[in-house]
Amino acid sequence: MIQRDQAEFLYQQVVRLIRQLQQQQVLRIGERLPSLRQLSQQLGVSIPTVRQGYEELERLGVIEARDRSGYYLKAESQPSCRPGRLPLNSEPVPVRQQTLLEQFYQAVHQPGILPLGIAQPSMAHPSEKALLRTMRRVTTLAGHQVMHYGPIDGFAPLKRQLAFRYLDVGLSLQPDELIITNGGQEALAIALQAVAKAGDVIAVESPTYFGVLELIETLGMMAVEIPVCPDDGIWLDDLQHVLETQPIRACVFSSSISNPMGSFMPDTQREQLVTLLEQRDIPLIEDDVYGELYFGVQRGRPAQCFSRKGLVLTCSSFSKTVAPSYRVGWLLPGRFGTEVWRLKRALSFSSSLLNQWTMSEFIVSGDYDRNLKKLRQALRLNKDRMMALVQQHFPVGTKVSHPQGGAVLWIELAETVDCNHLFQQALHQQISIAPGSLFSPSQKFTNCFRLSFGVRWQPEVEQAIQTLGQLVVVAP
Ligand SMILES: Cc1ncc(COP(=O)(O)O)c(C=O)c1O
Repeated sequence: MIQRDQAEFLYQQVVRLIRQLQQQQVLRIGERLPSLRQLSQQLGVSIPTVRQGYEELERLGVIEARDRSGYYLKAESQPSCRPGRLPLNSEPVPVRQQTLLEQFYQAVHQPGILPLGIAQPSMAHPSEKALLRTMRRVTTLAGHQVMHYGPIDGFAPLKRQLAFRYLDVGLSLQPDELIITNGGQEALAIALQAVAKAGDVIAVESPTYFGVLELIETLGMMAVEIPVCPDDGIWLDDLQHVLETQPIRACVFSSSISNPMGSFMPDTQREQLVTLLEQRDIPLIEDDVYGELYFGVQRGRPAQCFSRKGLVLTCSSFSKTVAPSYRVGWLLPGRFGTEVWRLKRALSFSSSLLNQWTMSEFIVSGDYDRNLKKLRQALRLNKDRMMALVQQHFPVGTKVSHPQGGAVLWIELAETVDCNHLFQQALHQQISIAPGSLFSPSQKFTNCFRLSFGVRWQPEVEQAIQTLGQLVVVAP
């Protein structure tokens, strides 16, 4: 029942056990839970561990403490409803996001602000100690070598390790089929320029990550929005309709874990997606930066696994799993290797050798996988906590995504609420959120916003959700 050799904390195992008993209806609503002493004896753990588990369940709204009487299972609060299906608008639109984006980024970096708008999953379980230890070791080992320009395509040992890791998901690659970039953003920028030019029409998810929209804007391209299902990624029938009616040059989708919706496209659908696009010779840029941060049993297979014509370009990075400041990402260019290589050389020569070397050693030492496992657990727990708080403090009728990985919740409020205004009000309370219209080139989602649970959990976070709920209640 309780396993001491697991990475999961003992109190988390207590939380899981009580939830299982609740689901199996062994424990029913209104029933008293075993006392702290009873459960600690039954499970062979300490009383403080059981207490910590019960406190966590209380925080999640599953149980309540009654004065001098013990802990009781609460009635299920209303299951939060997911956002609904959006209508398709298949017309391409230019992207103009600059003003709001500038305000958003300024807010993120203001001192004293609680950054609930930015997606930094690694903050939920920072690995800075292990990482700094690794970097010190590399600096000593490699000496002046790390001060040179690195190879354009990246540090060979890191490329080998990444190629080796892809074998786990059934993708067999040679290290030279992979190029290291300055984060996932450079990978996306290179991929887009390798397959499209100014004036071309790019299909994106709706809602989509605003960094993709900013690239499309900067490169003078146009966007068509394909609605995302909160569970399974883009609606393939909508995509098919757009492919039949619009001159789509390329697609940028995050089918592993989408941002901001947190949906996960099952492998069978992912295969259909690749087939649909390759039949028409349309490249797919797969943004896979959240691929490793799934909450299910296994990560999704990258779309590359289903490609027959080499038209899939996969972009990823260590920003979400380890630390964004290292700016180490990568790109699997498919058949566009020559163009991608040329663009990398033209845009930035190479990526930091010290940082690549550190990531490489971080993987070899086993620290990467150990941290990743704990990070996924911390994120899943934060997600449950944040969903429970939103349910508790936001008005009835608020719709919330049920992310299957990653670090963000997508929240849909009543249509009358203006989240650009909410963004400003939240800033006055020292909280930053990401207003929904950032995620659409046609300023949809004005009544939505993104909330990050990629945070070190602390009372300030709980207070901030309560404050946001109050602001929404009084919002015009
Ligand atoms: C979906 C998505 N893709 C790409 C990026 C960029 O990643 P990186 O920080 O590695 O450049 C982000 C960062 O927020 C993201 O959310």
